[in-house]
Amino acid sequence: MALKQITSRLALRATPLIRLKPNKTVNLGWRGFSAAPQQVQPSITASAALLQRKRLYSTISSALYGEGSSIDASKKNILPEFDLKGKVVVVSGGAQGLGLALSEALIEAGATVHALDLQDKPETEDFQRVASLSLSLNDKEFVYHRIDVTHRLQVDQTFAEISEAEEGHIDGVLAAAGIQNICPALEYKSEDFDKMLRVNVTGCFNVARAGAKQMVEAGNGGSILMIASMSGSIANKGLICPAYNASKAAVVQLGRNLASEWGVHNIRVNTLSPGYIRTNMLTSLFDSHPGMEQQWEGDNMLGRLSTPDEYRGAAVFLMSKASSFMTGADLKIDGGHTAW
Ligand SMILES: NC(=O)c1ccc[n+]([C@@H]2O[C@H](COP(=O)([O-])OP(=O)(O)OC[C@H]3O[C@@H](n4cnc5c(N)ncnc54)[C@H](O)[C@@H]3O)[C@@H](O)[C@H]2O)c1
Repeated sequence: MALKQITSRLALRATPLIRLKPNKTVNLGWRGFSAAPQQVQPSITASAALLQRKRLYSTISSALYGEGSSIDASKKNILPEFDLKGKVVVVSGGAQGLGLALSEALIEAGATVHALDLQDKPETEDFQRVASLSLSLNDKEFVYHRIDVTHRLQVDQTFAEISEAEEGHIDGVLAAAGIQNICPALEYKSEDFDKMLRVNVTGCFNVARAGAKQMVEAGNGGSILMIASMSGSIANKGLICPAYNASKAAVVQLGRNLASEWGVHNIRVNTLSPGYIRTNMLTSLFDSHPGMEQQWEGDNMLGRLSTPDEYRGAAVFLMSKASSFMTGADLKIDGGHTAW
């Protein structure tokens, strides 16, 4: 169906979606729908509005995913382009923290997730919850692979195995494995600096490339999201970690370059730059650096640190068709820390 036809249908049918008192004039202002003021029709009954809404969702779903799409587009308040049903996503650093929280979000959106991590398979309550959710929601296992992302051959081999097990499907890669180290530059040992770059940059590259190789082979394109940090574009007040910050700047720059190379294969590459998140990575720093937590809370416009779940929407957005024209970009979510 032509885009023009779709948008004109949306403009026609969007009105009943808005819950308003009869005769109230609103400016819907939705890009691609209609920016013109709309008059709500008081004669539309609740059931007629529901029927219209179902038809509208079915039109969107068919237009985006083809006729007979299995996507349940009538789910209340969920746009069909965020649906990850049938998609396979590999998440590095998926044992805990941000990687685990984002795995949970992807599973909730319908994806089958494979987690890669250096640790033995976790037996934590959080990990068990995500594993059970995957089985109950999608009838798919939350598969765990214990690997070191700095070992290229191990990473390539694991992606080849995942691709084979998933019948050639790897639709998304989320590279979240990373390490942090506080140390003044004058005291930084070369081997520690090297390790930081090896895990945070080379490890990220290994994972992205292994995923892209499988995507190119399958010919279906895909989406790659690498977790950088706001620390990739600033020097953090009171946080002395030159190697970490350099590594995250490298991840952002790597993202742009991979995007420019792989766009021809319909593989999108973006980075996400979070602000401070309450995960093990940070809480272990707070234990050794009293006062740091309070200082950081005051360093952003919302006066607090973030939690891993505040990045769920971004992960689903960037792994799904909702971001289909986005590549080579860095999405900063930092409570305004870098916007002062
Ligand atoms: N916590 C924050 O404030 C914050 C802020 C911005 C960005 N980030 C980034 O988010 C990502 C996740 O961080 P987090 O806070 O969840 O940390 P975390 O320490 O809780 O989790 C990191 C995970 O990466 C795994 N890992 C480390 N080295 C690995 C290797 N060589 N191979 C495979 N797995 C390895 C760890 O085992 C761990 O499970 C990191 O890239 C981090 O730099 C964190």
